[in-house]
Amino acid sequence: MRIFENLESEVRGYIRSFPTIFEKSKGAILTNEQGEDYIDFFAGAGTLNYGHNNEHISSALIEYIQKDGVVHGLDMATSAKKEFLQTFNDTILTPRNLDYKIQFTGPTGTNAVETALKLARLVKGRSNVVSFTNGFHGLTQGSSSVTGNDDYRDESYISRSNVSFMPFDGYFGDMNTMAIFRKFLEDSSSGLDIPAAVIVETIQGEGGINVASKEWLQELESICREYDILLIIDDIQVGNGRTGEFFSFEFAGINPDIVTVSKSIGGGLPMAIVLLKPDLDQWKPGEHTGTFRGNNLAFVAAKVAIEQYWQNDDLTNAVKYKENLLKDTLQKIADKYKDTFEIEIRGRGLAYGFEIKGDNSVAGEISKYAFEEKLIVETCGSEDQVVKFLPPLIIDEDTLVEGLNRLDTAIEKLVADKKEKLTGEF
Ligand SMILES: Cc1ncc(COP(=O)(O)O)c(C=O)c1O
Repeated sequence: MRIFENLESEVRGYIRSFPTIFEKSKGAILTNEQGEDYIDFFAGAGTLNYGHNNEHISSALIEYIQKDGVVHGLDMATSAKKEFLQTFNDTILTPRNLDYKIQFTGPTGTNAVETALKLARLVKGRSNVVSFTNGFHGLTQGSSSVTGNDDYRDESYISRSNVSFMPFDGYFGDMNTMAIFRKFLEDSSSGLDIPAAVIVETIQGEGGINVASKEWLQELESICREYDILLIIDDIQVGNGRTGEFFSFEFAGINPDIVTVSKSIGGGLPMAIVLLKPDLDQWKPGEHTGTFRGNNLAFVAAKVAIEQYWQNDDLTNAVKYKENLLKDTLQKIADKYKDTFEIEIRGRGLAYGFEIKGDNSVAGEISKYAFEEKLIVETCGSEDQVVKFLPPLIIDEDTLVEGLNRLDTAIEKLVADKKEKLTGEF
């Protein structure tokens, strides 16, 4: 690992949680240079919903490269882009009665968020945007201004003005936090400027797997309509089938004005898009453009993934089945250690969190012990107090069960070590 320590910037992050050199990957397995297999319950932070090196995607990419398909195309027209647009529209948008124009942004999630914020402000002619406590939307300047966690916010980066935060669902326990937002909008002396938009995740992935209820999202949508505010759903982490449906907001029957999509849309390759209602498409040609708006390899991968997994309900049903298995097993594990840790389980689809109450360091320790057992799981939440489970959606049942067994072993060893330490202290 020395070359990384010597040459790579201190900013490196995940490499510190998972300190080994990975060489190969397939499905839900990452293999290091020593040939050791790790079960991946992190899936590139939600980028590998279709698994590492998905066979359908890999063969389409090889074929495309072999026939000298355009790889880089700025934002010019290419066959790969044409086919992606057609497939996305026919297979994803039309069957869901969703009417969106598609904007290609720079290929990371934060590029899509910057685009959505810029467009909302442009269309509404208002600068304020409402975001929610524990929201995470990326780390460029505009995106970090709508991100709650102070690990990522620093006044020296420039002012983070033009954003107001409101409490997310569940922030005050059972209180309906939408009542607070409504009151602030109704009261002309609340100090809240009517925003151009609200930006929200239906499940806060980095923020701790905080799940917004259907009713909360519906009320948010109706407030937006009442006050002429645009509703932006950031579906970067929990879209692309993570909750079972393609978009994570489908269960609530809401119709957002703008949707940001990235991570798994490109089947593991960098890609991001913004979906916008046609009447919001008020850009002038080239007004928000850039060099990497035409990663044609990602368009090929995205098209194949959609054709392969979204022509029927098989993937949705498989996610529901595996969700039950994941949830029940996590509950069994929580029950087994209830005398040592108080654990709260929450999530939807294959995005689950395991919050250890009372001691914020335990989730990180579980992740470390799990790594020793050859299981990749990350933490999330404002204090990294939640263990996060995001296995690839295509994970087979045996690997899912094996991963959960490894988690159980990791916690068992952690508990034993803690007990031994305590005994040693007395
Ligand atoms: C909800 C959400 N929005 C935006 C982003 C930023 O995406 P990226 O890291 O690709 O810039 C993330 C990344 O985790 C995310 O989870």
